Amino acid sequence: MAYETILVETHGKVGVIILNRPKALNALSKTLMRELAQALDAFEANEEIGAIVLTGSEKAFAAGADIKEMATKSYMDVYREDFITVDWERVSTCRKPVIAAVSGYALGGGCELAMMCDFILAGENAKFGQPEITIGTMPGAGGTQRLTRFVGKSKAMEMCLTGRMMDAAEAERAGLVSRVVPVDDLKDEAIKTATKIADLSLPLVMMTKESVNRAYETTLTEGVRFERRLFHATFATADQKEGMAAFVEKRQPDFKNR
Ligand code: CAA
Repeated sequence: MAYETILVETHGKVGVIILNRPKALNALSKTLMRELAQALDAFEANEEIGAIVLTGSEKAFAAGADIKEMATKSYMDVYREDFITVDWERVSTCRKPVIAAVSGYALGGGCELAMMCDFILAGENAKFGQPEITIGTMPGAGGTQRLTRFVGKSKAMEMCLTGRMMDAAEAERAGLVSRVVPVDDLKDEAIKTATKIADLSLPLVMMTKESVNRAYETTLTEGVRFERRLFHATFATADQKEGMAAFVEKRQPDFKNR
């Protein structure tokens, strides 16, 4: 499928989506978010794909929702179209793992989009921020909620109230990103990490992702109960038998996604 605002690649079992509006620092326009949702639908439906990488350019992962597109919208416009719901939530409903590879700016909706992914690998030049307050609005795609859960109230509050950007080192210390790598290695490292996941059993990867995500939605007791039930369910899979047999027989497992 030909896209206008994103590029799509496959690297073995890994699907890569590259945000591609360089002149607007990958501002997240309606078209871009529609195309991103379509590309995710396609990778989700493709049985050959086991993990997805979402990335941007060296200068910007994404500098936020498209300000030029939304500047003149009225309350009725944003309410009626449920602005920043349709298509925007597609990343967080993806059942296959999605890794954000962030180089340069991840601001506003860009930071929120990265946080919707399962984890964030950052280039050394990455800059995260929620500057919406400085343009007369506030985060609208989960920034006040996800950032607070990831980095704690004090840092999230400061960032949302002042628009201050966090660099990659600070983001790693705060737990927003899983790892920082040299900018030139970022895409390869993300694909390598995604390949490692894609080589595992997809249903077991999906169950694990679902269980980790449950930690954000429920109490500890209920979350552990949910985990235990899924853990028991893994014993109904052929891949559990294969994985443990391979360990005992000192060989590599051959997972069949069953
Ligand atoms: N929307 C639309 N266009 C944008 C944009 C955005 N979010 N961010 C950058 N651009 C455009 C600029 O308008 C500029 O276009 P022109 O050449 O046509 O003027 C081009 O991208 C390059 O940008 P700059 O010249 O500003 O580049 P810079 O290197 O000087 O600055 C920057 C980079 C600090 C990221 C700056 O562009 C900036 O502050 N961008 C806006 C960041 C922002 O406020 N994001 C939040 C948006 S609101 C939101 O996201 C709501 C939500 O919660 C979903």
